[in-house]
Amino acid sequence: MASLRINERKTLLALRELGGKASVEKIAEKSGLADAAVMRAALTLSAENLVSLSSQKYALASLTREGENYAKLGLPERRLIRSLMKLGGEAEVAEAACEAKLEAGLVPIALGWAKKKGWGEIRGQKCLLMVKSEPALGSDEKLLNLIAERGSVVVEQLSQEFREAVDVLKKRKLVELEDKAYHELELTVKGWETVKKGLEIFEEVTQLTPELIITKRWRNVKFSKFDVTAPGPSAPVGKAHPLQQIIKRAREIFLEMGFTEIRGPMVETAFWNFDALFQPQDHPAREMMDTFYLANPRIGRLPKEEIVDGVAKTHENGWVTGSKGWGYKWSHEEAKKLVLRTHTTAETIKYLAMHKKPPIKVFSVDRVYRNEQVTYKHLAEFHQIEGIVVDKKATLRDLMGTLKTFYTKFGIEKIEFWPSYFPYTEPSAQAVAYHPKLKRWMELCGMGMFRPEVLAPMGIKYPVLAWGGGLERLAMIELGLDDIRMLYGNILGWLRRTPLCQ
Ligand code: PHE
Repeated sequence: MASLRINERKTLLALRELGGKASVEKIAEKSGLADAAVMRAALTLSAENLVSLSSQKYALASLTREGENYAKLGLPERRLIRSLMKLGGEAEVAEAACEAKLEAGLVPIALGWAKKKGWGEIRGQKCLLMVKSEPALGSDEKLLNLIAERGSVVVEQLSQEFREAVDVLKKRKLVELEDKAYHELELTVKGWETVKKGLEIFEEVTQLTPELIITKRWRNVKFSKFDVTAPGPSAPVGKAHPLQQIIKRAREIFLEMGFTEIRGPMVETAFWNFDALFQPQDHPAREMMDTFYLANPRIGRLPKEEIVDGVAKTHENGWVTGSKGWGYKWSHEEAKKLVLRTHTTAETIKYLAMHKKPPIKVFSVDRVYRNEQVTYKHLAEFHQIEGIVVDKKATLRDLMGTLKTFYTKFGIEKIEFWPSYFPYTEPSAQAVAYHPKLKRWMELCGMGMFRPEVLAPMGIKYPVLAWGGGLERLAMIELGLDDIRMLYGNILGWLRRTPLCQ
């Protein structure tokens, strides 16, 4: 149990003195606390199961200004018949009103009610008394007096007769009602145990002030305890989208590891996207199903003759690479077609065509496009993290080390390398990570060493380590998502709840 505050302790003690059960008002009176303070304490105490709190609604009736006035002077109809009695039982309306000291506005009211009560009647200009002696007080008048005497009454505690009178007086706007609630506290078994153990009353300090320090009073006062783990109000401040934060982190980690960033256009020729990577022109990935081809402009420019030639020959017969190639007639037209790049490997191979000397360490984090059905794990537009390392003695083991370092810095604990296949790498592998929420292994990236069929046409004479993988998959693991579409849903609640990564 959290330690009790002073008002809670005062409330418990007052309740014990009142026999264990009392209304909030009584406790307030006994403890010297304000009603609202007792009520607040009561809520905490009932949450702690020290008291039980029961509430009952009731209506409090009190007099309006007019009601108070009538309580003093008598109702207008009563005043009217009194004056009639004085005037011998019959009088002109104006005369009777004058005798009764009724203002003009009240005369019709007095006449109306006198008639309704059977006390008098109007005949022509005259007003006649219909009773022999002054009638006894009606329940409306008795109630008026009762409320005047007590200040207010609880409607629910009145007799049936008075309750009806409340309605009448309310309609006459002489009485008004206020909705109230009656709160009663009762010590629970746990509450009794607590008060029996004894509760000290001492002042609690909620704030350490300079005065407390200077005067050294802090040594002797008791400080309130705060629950520092209690949730504070939420403050949905502006921040970068979680995916942008992850992109930023990916960049920072590569930079830390000594890589340089490269970027390329979203629209590429099939040459860089496929041909330069030794993917045959009838490769299934090139089909309309997977690749978005541009309708306008439809074709782009190929690089210099020397590179195109090498690629063409390698595809056709293996050229100088020792390979047999794919054994078909390579088409310039097919290679010129413009596509939305399906992977950022198009950028790394293009970079290699222009930079041949090791050491090279470059990466890119960029958008790619695939004509895919959007599902919980597939998007048609997403980001890839891509990179290459060119070094005289680079091996696949170095690549595994590099990727392990990268993903570990990202906070991914379980990572493994499994064999795989890509047309442009040999050996090929994939890095996989365990998704704790989905409870299964997920591919992080494809990787491998570029084949001679890829390197020869670019004029590269050294080993090239290459990899590329989805950023959104990484985000799924990082953010504990089981649906990749969350990242693009603009779901405000989720965006607000997702903390800043670093
Ligand atoms: N481009 C491959 C993909 O998009 C990944 C890859 C990059 C594989 C480089 C090997 C080397 O899945």
